[in-house]
Amino acid sequence: MTSSTSLSDDRFAFLDLKPDVDFVLDEVFAGLSLEAKSISPKFFYDERGSELFDAITQLPEYYVTRTEMGMFDAHVEEIAAALGENICVIEYGSGSTKKIRRLLEALKPEAYVPVDISGDYLLSNAQTLVQDFPELKIFPVCADITQSFALPAQVEALRPLGFFPGSSIGNFEPSQAVDFLQRVRTTLGSGGYFLVGVDAKKDISILEAAYDDAAGVTAEFNLNTLVHLNEKLGADFDVGNFEHFSHYNPEQGCIQMFLKSLVAQRVNIADKVFSFAEGELLHTENSYKYAKQEFITLAQSAQFDCLQSWQDANEWFSLFLLRAH
Ligand code: AVJ
Repeated sequence: MTSSTSLSDDRFAFLDLKPDVDFVLDEVFAGLSLEAKSISPKFFYDERGSELFDAITQLPEYYVTRTEMGMFDAHVEEIAAALGENICVIEYGSGSTKKIRRLLEALKPEAYVPVDISGDYLLSNAQTLVQDFPELKIFPVCADITQSFALPAQVEALRPLGFFPGSSIGNFEPSQAVDFLQRVRTTLGSGGYFLVGVDAKKDISILEAAYDDAAGVTAEFNLNTLVHLNEKLGADFDVGNFEHFSHYNPEQGCIQMFLKSLVAQRVNIADKVFSFAEGELLHTENSYKYAKQEFITLAQSAQFDCLQSWQDANEWFSLFLLRAH
């Protein structure tokens, strides 16, 4: 199901575990064949999508990234002291390198393993880091973090710290988040650390503005999914026939994003045809928000203990240092 190639040297090796196109096609077909059509949020992240996400992190409405960055700044020394030496940082969905730099400076790990589905973006960011951190070993892995993957052999003897910032864990349904944490535990091993940033429940108007910004960047990010599917899978979505729609679902405790079909239309993907009614919604993302204790309980059900947790002054965002037992 996956192709594997690696280029090696002492300090840098790229491991490509990217799922092949047939595997991806089956997943897309399955989602579009559901009664309520749905596509995984991982399809946001082609190169353009990763850039658009970076632009989102700068938006005035999107408090998530700047709040979390402020918390890293405030607590990184404390985190470093709790962890000690011989650390390998494994970043789940590494994206741009902004968050990791501060952590790398303070933790001074032996090695860094950025894991991301967007291969070219991963590689170019990792190569920049190699130059900026001359002491650091970097072993990027191109993989789908929603599937199991093994760590590069080069880091086996180090003490693993998984790093999953930005509340990306909110993309999973709570039960899937438990499954994900169990896979993380398998990857890191018993005793492994996991540092995770989680968005908290808060005023609905603040949440909804963060996912429907005035400049329309989130709309473009959401619509880019269709451009990505056209390019990657040869689909023929007419992007102008869809519109961004998002809202907070208070029962589920999550922001939900959709692409709304503006007309009745058919879309071809490989040898299949999918019909959309006027007004039909294609679900593209859930972004779950957790109260502090809610998340601690969830982590415990995946055999992680919470060693320490932090919140910002507004209690908008939480940071957890977990340990697998
Ligand atoms: C990267 C999943 C954390 O849920 O806030 C931002 C993605 N979607 N704006 C989030 C996202 C729309 C983001 N995560």
